[in-house]
Amino acid sequence: MIAIILGTRPEIIKMSPVIRECVRRKLDFTMIHTGQHYSYEMDETFFQQLELPRPENNLDVGSGTHAEQTAKILRGIERILVEKRPKIALVQGDTNTVMAGALAATKLHIKVGHVEAGLRSFDRSMPEEINRIVADHISDILFAPTEVSRRYLLQEGIPLERIHVVGNTIVDSVHQNLEISTKRSDILSEMGLNAGEYFLVTAHRSENVDVKERFKGIIDGLKLINDEYEMPVIYPIHPRAKKFLELFRIDTTGIHIVPPVGFLQFLQLESSARMVLTDSGGVQEETCILGTPCVTLRDNTERPETIDVGSNMLGHVRPDTIMKATRMMMDAEGGWENPFGDGRAGARIVHLCRS
Ligand code: UD1
Ligand code: UDP
Repeated sequence: MIAIILGTRPEIIKMSPVIRECVRRKLDFTMIHTGQHYSYEMDETFFQQLELPRPENNLDVGSGTHAEQTAKILRGIERILVEKRPKIALVQGDTNTVMAGALAATKLHIKVGHVEAGLRSFDRSMPEEINRIVADHISDILFAPTEVSRRYLLQEGIPLERIHVVGNTIVDSVHQNLEISTKRSDILSEMGLNAGEYFLVTAHRSENVDVKERFKGIIDGLKLINDEYEMPVIYPIHPRAKKFLELFRIDTTGIHIVPPVGFLQFLQLESSARMVLTDSGGVQEETCILGTPCVTLRDNTERPETIDVGSNMLGHVRPDTIMKATRMMMDAEGGWENPFGDGRAGARIVHLCRS
């Protein structure tokens, strides 16, 4: 049996190709949801839109401090793994769900497979960086998306035979859903937007939105963009960002803030945007795949491949640096190659889990 552990929005989206492959091959698998994300628009909507089976178990851990969340996940997952004794447990990405899921499994001598292994921002103040490093070093099979990730893993002493470069499952996910998204989502006309004539924004990272000066810097940068280009700036806001925006009472005049949207809608918004500004990992990859220029609202990125091919640029979090990067990316040529693989990562991962 394969145990698929997930808990947040990006994990549902990026695990979906693996889940679909297990369903297609009629494999014995079980899904464990930690409940780290639980709001309808951060969780259930993705199962519905992607037509995925519902997890057999949901730990309902909810929100909390890092230690609280991690501890609850460890206890809950251990109980289920002891009962089910899967041959392998799969985790995806860099959240608390990933680190705790991998740790619970390895302590029970259950093989761990880490999907999207080997990403590094080299910034250990980020919770995601700690989660990735821990998950990579306790995993038995490391599914690296690119050669860059394989190199980082080898540099940290991880044995070559554990690492498999399979591509990133986000390519599978985009390919599998873009056409459906075009047929089923009419979000542009619902929002009164014209293709190529708006900016799309996401920002939710704790290092940005939990810090007033940084969050205000981002919002002020977006206002400058709105003034200079006279195009709508659309910001589907993550619940964490919404909480801090209200707490800090940051003025957002001119920015169109909306609730988070479903994946089918978001794909449409991303592929038709003039440009995307984001601090999300997945969004940096998707814009690169979809051919939309991106400015990353961070001081570093664990997706250097996007910068190398020319789809993405670091804009940091100050109004002037955001504006400068935006001007440069507005002139981007486009036509870059997709460095994240051919869209068959899910099939490769499932094949390797069984061999
Ligand atoms: C988590 C991940 C982050 C990832 C992001 C994806 C960690 C440490 N962080 O951050 O790497 O990029 O998910 O979206 O694992 N909340 C809701 N409803 C929800 C979930 C959260 O309202 O369904 C609110 C709560 O106020 C909560 C806050 O958002 O306190 C933060 O949630 P949490 O799961 O701690 O971290 P994320 O910021 O979502
Ligand atoms: N996404 C979505 N609706 C939104 C914003 C984002 O479906 O309103 C999707 C997006 O397409 C991407 C994923 O959420 O696949 C990224 O998740 P997030 O930014 O929360 O996490 P990260 O990738 O930074 O870990």
